[in-house]
Amino acid sequence: MAIGLQGFPRTRQRRTRQAPWSRAMVSENVLKPADFIWPIFVVEGEGKVEPIAAMPGVNRLSIDIAVERVKEAADFGIPCVAIFPNIDKSLRTETCEEAWNPDNLVCRATRAIREAVPHIGVMEDVALDPYSSTGHDGIVRDGRIVNDESVEALVRQGLAQAAAGANIIGPSDMMDGRIGALRDALENAGYQDVMLLSYAAKYASSFYGPFREAVGADATLKGDKKTYQMDSANTDEALREVAMDIAEGADMVMIKPGMPYLDICQRVKAEFAVPTFAYQVSGEYAMIEAAAGNGWIDREKAILESLMAFKRAGCDGILTYYAVEASKMLMTQNA
Ligand code: PBG
Repeated sequence: MAIGLQGFPRTRQRRTRQAPWSRAMVSENVLKPADFIWPIFVVEGEGKVEPIAAMPGVNRLSIDIAVERVKEAADFGIPCVAIFPNIDKSLRTETCEEAWNPDNLVCRATRAIREAVPHIGVMEDVALDPYSSTGHDGIVRDGRIVNDESVEALVRQGLAQAAAGANIIGPSDMMDGRIGALRDALENAGYQDVMLLSYAAKYASSFYGPFREAVGADATLKGDKKTYQMDSANTDEALREVAMDIAEGADMVMIKPGMPYLDICQRVKAEFAVPTFAYQVSGEYAMIEAAAGNGWIDREKAILESLMAFKRAGCDGILTYYAVEASKMLMTQNA
């Protein structure tokens, strides 16, 4: 029995649950807009809002519209956005050089958002999949994803993003050694303030399906990502990934996907006590939307409950497609 806990009826756990005020008084965790990083998808063009079939309610936005939406997000108190591009198929190559083109879609979006909304943080993904004709996060040679050559490409990509004004770089590629290589390159190039939020424990997951549609990597991906992303059977391995990324210079770490990996979130936070994030990924979003769309769950309650789970597990923040909507809900809840 927990310290100080008496048996029934001296202890009646329901006493503190009896009213909204007493529940609020003893609640152990709070959810707030500052907990959210909002992932958005961008496309070329103007005035464009393109729906994503597997993510109802999430759209690909042209930069002008993205800027407007990010302004709104900042007004709700969301501290950071993560930008993902869907680039033209003709720019996707085996060597992925569009990833470090200083004027690529993501770099232009970053500059536009930094200029128009200077008080929000901008995060970019370092990984080659939106730029690759193979759909992989690294460079493919003879059917293998080659590590060290991929890291060189990822460093070029990261430096281009830093030059465009990215505040946070989020390497999501799971190549070995990329955090150290990026940290050294950023230091040498004078970008010592750029933060690294490492996708440290990223699992080879079926929950990324809708995202791959969003960035247009679903049709191109050959095979799976199991030689670089983690096996869902493993926990200790996640701790080794996190330990190495911190040692190599990561400022913050992420666990991904989110809800199926709450045990990893909890263990990482407990062992390392560093800023710890979870990514509520596209498949988690799609599941909530599908069940709510069928009238099987209460959508808004399920959204907030799913986000609170991350706080309970010890996460300091959550990447979520619900960032803006959840912030609105929290505001009206507290009003
Ligand atoms: C790319 C990347 C992926 C996600 C974020 N960055 C997909 C993947 O690794 O295949 C997934 C995000 C989501 O599903 O919402 N490396």
